[in-house]
Amino acid sequence: MHATGDQGLPFVLQSTNRLTGKAGQARHGVPSVESPRCRKAGRQGDLIMQLQGNVAIVSGASSGIGRQIALSYAREGANVAIGDIDMDGAKKVVAEIEDAGSKGLAVEMNVTDESAVNAGVDQVVERFGKIDTMVSNAGIQIVHPIEDFPYDQFKKMIDIHLGGAFLLTKACVRHMYPRKSGSLIYMGSVHSHEPSALKTAYVSAKHGILGLSRVMAKEGAKHGVRSNVICPGFVKTPLVEKQIPEQAESLGISEEEVVSKIMLGETVDTEFTTLQDVADVAVFLAAFKTNALTGQSITASHGWYMA
Ligand SMILES: NC(=O)c1ccc[n+]([C@@H]2O[C@H](COP(=O)([O-])OP(=O)(O)OC[C@H]3O[C@@H](n4cnc5c(N)ncnc54)[C@H](O)[C@@H]3O)[C@@H](O)[C@H]2O)c1
Repeated sequence: MHATGDQGLPFVLQSTNRLTGKAGQARHGVPSVESPRCRKAGRQGDLIMQLQGNVAIVSGASSGIGRQIALSYAREGANVAIGDIDMDGAKKVVAEIEDAGSKGLAVEMNVTDESAVNAGVDQVVERFGKIDTMVSNAGIQIVHPIEDFPYDQFKKMIDIHLGGAFLLTKACVRHMYPRKSGSLIYMGSVHSHEPSALKTAYVSAKHGILGLSRVMAKEGAKHGVRSNVICPGFVKTPLVEKQIPEQAESLGISEEEVVSKIMLGETVDTEFTTLQDVADVAVFLAAFKTNALTGQSITASHGWYMA
């Protein structure tokens, strides 16, 4: 799979340029495998950097899934902005991005605050000149049976997951539409398709994200912007670690049973999805070249949900 640059040219790095026979030359102005970026990334031999020249913003990338996506994008040659409320975490991820040979930017952004989101996205464009890829990923988890679910907590969940995705999309397409290019990627969940007890807010928000993404596939098409959702199964991150004792208490079962029955019981192999599994799908979607793949959701969940 090859990503394309502004001129739609494939970014392919080769140890030997097949046109000139010169070792270490790259096509279309892309750094050769001998460049510091490639050496730093530990790349050897034939090499395809799928996101060379790409600029991405990933919300909630100071931790967990977002962080892994940001680092994977950087390893594939993208410059990446981290939009988060946790600035200490964001700065650490930026340092890791720079270790991978790409450029990073920490942007303070509460995704529920429209002016902060707009200002953050503008900051990314000022620094890197454009936005090719948006990953709307910031999220939290709150679980209760409905009879105990405080309404303000329900609204907070919808506001962060769905409102945040709406605001980030609105801010990013202002920069994507004039360039007739862009990839909108939303972090859904198996819970975009399947319900679970105690998760009225989360499941409602994640179902809503499917709707938002599908509308964006329709609205974005004439502007060259595609829109897709990633739907992971359970991934061991702080968000999930926190749920294990909470669910054990609410359901009156052991923590082991929460993992084996509630979280992984419907998978084909009782395995957690990994951070890298999700990041690999995010790289695939960012690097995909055309609007053939739009309005879709891709589920990585060890078969928990089969679409
Ligand atoms: N971990 C899983 O099993 C799993 C499965 C499916 C989907 N997801 C989704 O993946 C996304 C990331 O979750 P994670 O597990 O990596 O969680 P995490 O807790 O490791 O990371 C969440 C990040 O979002 C940030 N954040 C929270 N509220 C924010 C706000 N208002 N504005 C900006 N940033 C904010 C946090 O600071 C943190 O950096 C979420 O949307 C979650 O619903 C997670």
